[in-house]
Amino acid sequence: MWRPPERIRHPLPVARAPRVEEAQASLLFTPLTLPSGLELAERTWVPAMVPWRASARGEVTPEVLGWYARFAAGEPGVLVVEATGVRDVPSGPLLRIHDDGFVPGLRELVRTVREASGGRTRLFIQLIDFLRIRRRPERERFFVEFLAVTAAHRSGLAAATAEPAWQSAPEPELRRALAALPDAALGALLAPRELEALRFGARERVWDEHEPSVAALPRVLPGAFARAARRAREAGFDGVELHYAHAYTMASFLSALNVRRDGYGGDLAGRLRLPLEVVAAVRDAVGARYTVGCRMLCHEAIAGGSSVEDAAFFATHLARAGLDFVSLSTGGKFEDAEQPRIGEAAYPYTGPSGYACMPTVRSDARGPFGRNVPEQARVRAAARAAGLEVPFVVCGGIHHFDQAEGILARGDGDLIAAARQSLADPDWFRKLRLGRGAEVRRCAYTNYCEALDQRHAVVTCRLWDRTPPRAGEPPVAQSADGRRLVAPDWS
Ligand SMILES: Cc1cc2nc3c(=O)[nH]c(=O)nc-3n(C[C@H](O)[C@H](O)[C@H](O)COP(=O)(O)O)c2cc1C
Ligand code: SF4
Repeated sequence: MWRPPERIRHPLPVARAPRVEEAQASLLFTPLTLPSGLELAERTWVPAMVPWRASARGEVTPEVLGWYARFAAGEPGVLVVEATGVRDVPSGPLLRIHDDGFVPGLRELVRTVREASGGRTRLFIQLIDFLRIRRRPERERFFVEFLAVTAAHRSGLAAATAEPAWQSAPEPELRRALAALPDAALGALLAPRELEALRFGARERVWDEHEPSVAALPRVLPGAFARAARRAREAGFDGVELHYAHAYTMASFLSALNVRRDGYGGDLAGRLRLPLEVVAAVRDAVGARYTVGCRMLCHEAIAGGSSVEDAAFFATHLARAGLDFVSLSTGGKFEDAEQPRIGEAAYPYTGPSGYACMPTVRSDARGPFGRNVPEQARVRAAARAAGLEVPFVVCGGIHHFDQAEGILARGDGDLIAAARQSLADPDWFRKLRLGRGAEVRRCAYTNYCEALDQRHAVVTCRLWDRTPPRAGEPPVAQSADGRRLVAPDWS
């Protein structure tokens, strides 16, 4: 993963543990009612985290149940289930919801979380769409199988070798000759997207309007999200979170890089058009009283990407369209991702925008803790200035009581999301609430978990994955390489 050049090692700040009376009187543990009428017992939030535990077809497995039951035992106000696919796109062990056949498994997941949290935790599911991305190919294979040979390749090779015969040479020979060229020559001969397909693996963009399936997205996606949301409601989830953040389809429509010319790109209104149409379709499908929110970026953190001002515009209009919450994240884009190894796909958290999303303790002077909250607060302030009271969820390096309480007291956010701190210790919010904050296992923010995610390996936390079972602890499920799949019990 990319690191800021300064590489300042930030120690974990001193984290004061509040006494039980103080915790219980705090803003963090004050209930909040969403515009839908859904009551949250407290303002604590575990955001979506993909654990790579679904079946290869995207179904709920016992390991998925175990993962969410463990977070639910910590009784956060809200727990958001990982990004779950709304279309029938093979995606390995990630959850899917594109068909009614997934409802029974998801219903079991809802039942499990209700039981583990004693009904205290509200459960949402994040709905995602993503476009096709291929693994980085072997060089030979790219030229023999994937490259669509054009007249430009023929004339380019003819010019590079001073051999006009390449203009009409048989295609297999031409492919072999291209494969044999040095990298430097390829830079001039292949189009930018062909070079990217060779060096990173081919990746679709939402502005590839020449691809019929991409051109059709505005017709296809509102229905796909709406049907998925209806299934989520049938399964018993308290609400859905539309994934409009990071590197995926809906975030790409919002992106300043989106140059579609069919009215779904270009200026701010064009980029927002499909996200608004999806909200409208989802609302139609689930009704006014069901909780529908979105996760979006406070800025894209890439060259030429959307700014905080763009995000303020989007959040304000999305809130006005009837969202019940707006959850903010930062960066996490493909555009600045590192080159993957051959046979692997690019991962959108390896570049500077990935760092902005999940910063580590090796940082610049700004450090990783609450790093993005000031920008997120500006997005919220714009919505408030427009007279909108929708709650905002803030996220990124939030990990101790005074920090969270300060954010709420200043009005920088309305709900406090913590991903890695909750992974390190799923009980941490509960420990604070019970006045046992001194027992919190503190995230080290070195991103061992994120590296597992990058390799599509089952995600665990380094602080607990090799901890042997305690006396009396029920049998611990383990990964094939001997890591415990859920955090140790705390009672
Ligand atoms: C293993 C892992 C998986 C993640 N999966 C998702 C996801 O499915 N959807 C999403 O919006 N964010 C995902 N994230 C990002 C987190 O929700 C969060 O935005 C990020 O980790 C920063 O918050 P933190 O500093 O509290 O960890 C993931 C993060 C991690 C560490
Ligand atoms: S693996 Fe490291 S960064 Fe991830 S949750 Fe655990 S301590 Fe935090």
